[in-house]
Formats: sequence, C-alpha cells, structure tokens
Amino acid sequence: MSKTVLILPGDGIGPEITAEAIKLLEALRRDHGLDITLEQGLLGGAAIEATGEPLPAETLAKAQAADAVLMGAVGGPQWEAIERSRRPERGLLALRSGLGLFANLRPALLYPQLAEASSLRTDLVAGLDMLIVRELTGGIYFGQPRGIEIRDGQRVGFNTMVYSEAEIERIMRVACELAMKRQRRVCSVDKANVLEVSELWREVANRVAADYPEIELSHLYVDNAAMQLVRAPKQFDVMVTGNLFGDVLSDCAAMLTGSIGMLPSASLDAHGKGLYEPIHGSAPDIAGQGKANPLAMLLSVAMLLRYTFADKALADRVERAVGRVLDQGWRTADILSPGMRLADTITMGDAVVAALAD
Ligand code: IPM
Ligand code: MG
Repeated sequence: MSKTVLILPGDGIGPEITAEAIKLLEALRRDHGLDITLEQGLLGGAAIEATGEPLPAETLAKAQAADAVLMGAVGGPQWEAIERSRRPERGLLALRSGLGLFANLRPALLYPQLAEASSLRTDLVAGLDMLIVRELTGGIYFGQPRGIEIRDGQRVGFNTMVYSEAEIERIMRVACELAMKRQRRVCSVDKANVLEVSELWREVANRVAADYPEIELSHLYVDNAAMQLVRAPKQFDVMVTGNLFGDVLSDCAAMLTGSIGMLPSASLDAHGKGLYEPIHGSAPDIAGQGKANPLAMLLSVAMLLRYTFADKALADRVERAVGRVLDQGWRTADILSPGMRLADTITMGDAVVAALAD
C-alpha cells in the first residue's frame, strides 16, 4: 500500500534542500518501485506569513494523517521579534510534541572521504560511527512552569527540567534496542551530581539496562561528555540523553564529521511514524544562493526509507549513492577541500540521483 509523506520545506535553505529530496524520492518512485504519495504543507516562518501561525491546524492534521513527515528547516531573523509562543521554532516543537515523536535519532557518521574536513585530527575521527538518542518531547523544552515575570521589581526568566519515570524508561528502551543492533554499548548522559531530575534519570537508566544483559551501560556527566566527544569520540556507540543535553551534544558530534550539513535525523513515535529532518538549521546567511549542502536532507530520506518504509535495501542504496558522489569528488562549499569539485545544491542533488543506478 502506498505510504504518504508530508513534505514541509520551511524557511531559509529549507525549500532548496527539500527540492533535492523531492527529486530523489521521485527518482526512487520512477526507477526503484518506491510506492509513495507526496503532499506538501506549511511550517515555521513560511506558515506564519501565510496563516499567522507557525503550525497551522491544517499542517498538524496532514502530519497526523501521513505515514511520515520530511522537513527542511525553520526560522530566520525576520521572525525573531515575534512574540515567543508564535515563533517558527515553536511550530517545529509543537509538531514533535503533537505527533508524540519522543525518540530523536542523530547518527554521527564520518564518511572516510571527508576525514580531512573534520576540525579534529583525522586519526581521532576516522571510522567514527556513533548514534545520539535524544529525548525529544520532554525535559526543559516542555516543562511547566515556564515564563518571564516580575519578581521583587525585576524580571526573571525560568524553565522547568522535568522527566517522569515513564519518559526516561521509554527513551532508554529505544537506546538499548538500537544498541543491540550495533556494538551494544550505551552511554547515558546526565548531570546527576547536581540535578535531581538527572538522579532519577540515572536510576531508571540502570533499571532498564538490567533487562538487556548484553548491553554495557555507562554514565557520563554532560560536561565530561562534551569533553570526551572532542577528545576521543570513537569511544562512543550509542549515547542517550535528555532534550537539552542532546540538542547541544548533537551539534558538537555533527561537527566531528566535517560539517553540520552532513547529518540527518529521525524523530520517531512508538509506532514507526517519523519526522525526518537534517539537524542543521535554516542557514539564512546562505539561503537562496544555491550553496546549501543537500546531503543531510538526502540522508534524512535514507532514514525515512529505513524506519518508516522498513526498506533497508533502498536506504542502503541512497547512502551508497552519497558515498559514490563524494568519491567522484563533488563537494558543496561547506565540505570543500583542495582538489575537489565545487558543487551547488542542485548539482549535488543531481549527482546523487545519477549515482542511484550503481
Ligand atoms: C534541533 C534544533 C531545534 C531544537 C530548534 C530549531 C527548535 O536546534 O533540532 O536541534 O532545539 O530542538
Ligand atoms: Mg539543535
């Protein structure tokens, strides 16, 4: 049966990279039997311009009805002055929450062809293949109370970092299940030396991991985890952590792979539905110039094939095509190194589609 994918191009470079994803999906439908129906919707700044809301009810309804959502990026300086609750980013957060996408998978995989582009020494990153599992619908991103109010004559801002046992348990299970298919090592990241919420996190992590005797569970405080990521990143297999820590650590891990323009992500609910998006933002500084690297977006399509379509062969084919294109020397500006061929967004997308045949 045909699966429906809702495409949300969003803002900044979002529409440019999304166009390459659509091109890829159409090629897979034409030449490789992918049974897919594509729909489009508005999210973020683009939705604010058209409807006044960052997540229009129509978009949420379409996303709920779809089998998966493929998103570009949201946000930009023109919407920063808008009242907090109606900014583009809130649209994305409401979508994650509205769809119950609690498990965010952010693989940091270094393509050997790009080892030179990493800001770390090649020997430290060569062969890097880790997966950050970030809790995505709880923690300080959604905790109540939150706000800015007057106390004792001055404004104070506050948020609440809160996790229930059930929330910790389900994300730990996702991490352990994924680790069982990898190197069976899980590192849980918290701040249990200071925060009660982390104390509970650690206790539940230990309890869940006890159900997986083959898994080696370790714990790191988040400050140490940040240090270890840039000191010796290859020690990690699966890293599991809360919403805010995962946000910060995944940008850090992304950079180890050469460019944040390379990393895809999947946000999954409990039933295989997913939202797929590159982890980079809308990059307003290069929007509309054809310079954006579409590979994180195209690799997000591979994740969509892997998780929502459960089509490993096709997912592998897309990932192989990306590898082939890098072998051919094509590089967008963010990953360019001497002797390589500079590609714009469209050229890169075309090259990946052409390499699908191999
Ligand atoms: C991410 C982004 C988002 C987040 C923003 C755009 C709300 O940084 O996906 O990592 O903080 O989750
Ligand atoms: Mg982020």
